[in-house]
Amino acid sequence: MAGAHHKKTGKLAVQAKQLHRELAAFCAFGQETASGFCAPEGSDSMVPVYANEFWTSKQRAGHSLHEISYRACFKPQLPHFFIERLTQPGDCVYDPFMGRGTTLLEAALMGRRSVGCDINPLGAILVAPRLNPPDLEDVRDRLANFDWAAGAALPVDKDLLAFFHPETLRELTFLRDYFIRREADGRIDAVDRWIRMVAVNRLTGHSKGFFSVYTLPPNQSVSVESQRRINEKRAQEPERRNVGELIFRKSKALLKSLLDESLPPMEQARLLTADARQTAELADGSVDLVVTSPPFLNVVDYAQDNWMRGWFCGFDTAALNISVTPKIPVWSQFICDTFRELSRVLKPDGWIAFEVGEVDKGTVKLEEHVIPAAQAAGLCAELVLINEQGFTKTANCWGIDNNRKGTNSNRVVLLHHG
Ligand SMILES: C[S@@+](CC[C@H](N)C(=O)[O-])C[C@H]1O[C@@H](n2cnc3c(N)ncnc32)[C@H](O)[C@@H]1O
Repeated sequence: MAGAHHKKTGKLAVQAKQLHRELAAFCAFGQETASGFCAPEGSDSMVPVYANEFWTSKQRAGHSLHEISYRACFKPQLPHFFIERLTQPGDCVYDPFMGRGTTLLEAALMGRRSVGCDINPLGAILVAPRLNPPDLEDVRDRLANFDWAAGAALPVDKDLLAFFHPETLRELTFLRDYFIRREADGRIDAVDRWIRMVAVNRLTGHSKGFFSVYTLPPNQSVSVESQRRINEKRAQEPERRNVGELIFRKSKALLKSLLDESLPPMEQARLLTADARQTAELADGSVDLVVTSPPFLNVVDYAQDNWMRGWFCGFDTAALNISVTPKIPVWSQFICDTFRELSRVLKPDGWIAFEVGEVDKGTVKLEEHVIPAAQAAGLCAELVLINEQGFTKTANCWGIDNNRKGTNSNRVVLLHHG
């Protein structure tokens, strides 16, 4: 058994022993742990597996700052579980596929130093402002001082009228142009970044809280043609929305938890827009814990789902090199290359919690491919933790296809240096 018998010393050995004991005896939500072993093909080891409901949406409400949508995000309870058990305040927690930054934000809220990377610049746009949130009053003042009418003088992309009322689109065009100019001339500040992050989050959705007419959930943008078909089928036309008002309302909701709980200083957070396999900016042996979830084969089309968000921020998501690997061998190689880089940045006694899901109706268990890929990169699998959860709204980050392509369990392979 690679996990249990691998030679570990010091802190790593103590933490591993405690974790095996805790997982085996876990019963916090009234259900006993099912234990077994996983013996992946092509691997020379049996790895202990523990299955239970280890965290649940009922356990505790996450911090309000987490509440933005992103395709295939995990719940804050997942990184919390590992950060709490495997790190101390001040330790460095890294997510090489940060997405909306659930790991980074949770780590920062727990007084750890956060480092993150995503190949999509949207990652940093969504994460940075929530690691350094402004006062609500400053957001209100900035919104009140915008020259919203200036949008009337700007060219408007008429295709977008399939989503937005002409007035709403003019306001959005003003905001988009403002942020792109502020960014280009280096005058963008924390309040601007916050407003941009909230606006990105309100672009499209299925309620009056979003700028668009009824469409798919906010983490998925359909094409203009599909939206025209949705409008026809539902006999709907985009209604006028007040962009500033909706941004203020969502800002208030996001900042709610800060009324009771102030944030620890987060100035040490570091965000990269890069390929997870090439992160030369990160020093060797600098990370205590990685908590991450890579793209699962081609289950999610991050470029398509985020095209509208990219448009608003001034870049084309289709031009990004977002990893989409439909075949297992190519995916395994991608994961192995990622592990080589993670192994470089990980401290000798550091941990990697690598979350994958079931794909293809549960017929492909990605953890069985993660373990050999990790071993090929010189890492060792300590255990597999399977968190089984009932279907909940937050688990529905797979959107409408959840029952066919998605997952209702988190499968986490816990790794360390071999
Ligand atoms: C499953 S999502 C991560 C979601 C994240 N755990 C959260 O809670 O928001 C995977 C992320 O990997 C990013 N990605 C895809 N290929 C990448 C690569 N080669 N390097 C870095 N990031 C990549 C995607 O843009 C996407 O945001």
